[in-house]
Amino acid sequence: MLWAWTVPGWSTKDELRSLYRAAVTAGGPGDIAEVGSWKGRSTILLARALNEADASGAKVWAIDHHVGSDEDQHRELLAAEGSTLDGFLANIAAGGVEDRVVPLVMSSVDGAAELARRGVLLRMVFIDGAHDEASVRADIRAFLPLVRAGGLIAMHDCEIEDADFPGVWRAYQAELEDRVDVVQHTDALLVVRVK
Ligand SMILES: C[S@@+](CC[C@H](N)C(=O)[O-])C[C@H]1O[C@@H](n2cnc3c(N)ncnc32)[C@H](O)[C@@H]1O
Repeated sequence: MLWAWTVPGWSTKDELRSLYRAAVTAGGPGDIAEVGSWKGRSTILLARALNEADASGAKVWAIDHHVGSDEDQHRELLAAEGSTLDGFLANIAAGGVEDRVVPLVMSSVDGAAELARRGVLLRMVFIDGAHDEASVRADIRAFLPLVRAGGLIAMHDCEIEDADFPGVWRAYQAELEDRVDVVQHTDALLVVRVK
């Protein structure tokens, strides 16, 4: 499972373990959507979790425009590379999960509309795109209607105190808190179940 750790990213090992466990236990029916894939660390992990769950036919929809967020950490890295798409695709192939992953190279909100157009039902969505409050609220509003009752929503950088991105917790409180039960909160990874 921690093979994904070799791919560049920001999540801790405990967060990766927690995300993996959530994806294995989310249960069917439905696919997984990921908002923000960067170089594929969490994408590979989610796809391998579907393998362990023996979710035949279930996909990971990896939604990212691959031009980064308006955040210092992305600006510096993207100034050198331009786009994360080639690196993402290479890592997905090296991780052996091409058959599970469907990249959607577009904005998160357009990605949600595309999934709705295709009639995709979600067992889980992992929200890890832009981290300002307005963007996270827009992502929650776009993807929540696609998640089946009892499905999971995982959010990264969702911290109550000393948060690097305080807008993520505020977005959770404004859009989700009353509609979900908390499953686990590991470091900055929050996993909740839709009532
Ligand atoms: C923190 S990184 C994702 C890290 C990844 N989930 C992981 O664990 O390895 C955030 C990603 O979200 C993407 N992103 C930011 N805002 C977006 C938006 N509105 N639509 C699509 N992708 C977006 C960026 O391009 C970036 O690759």
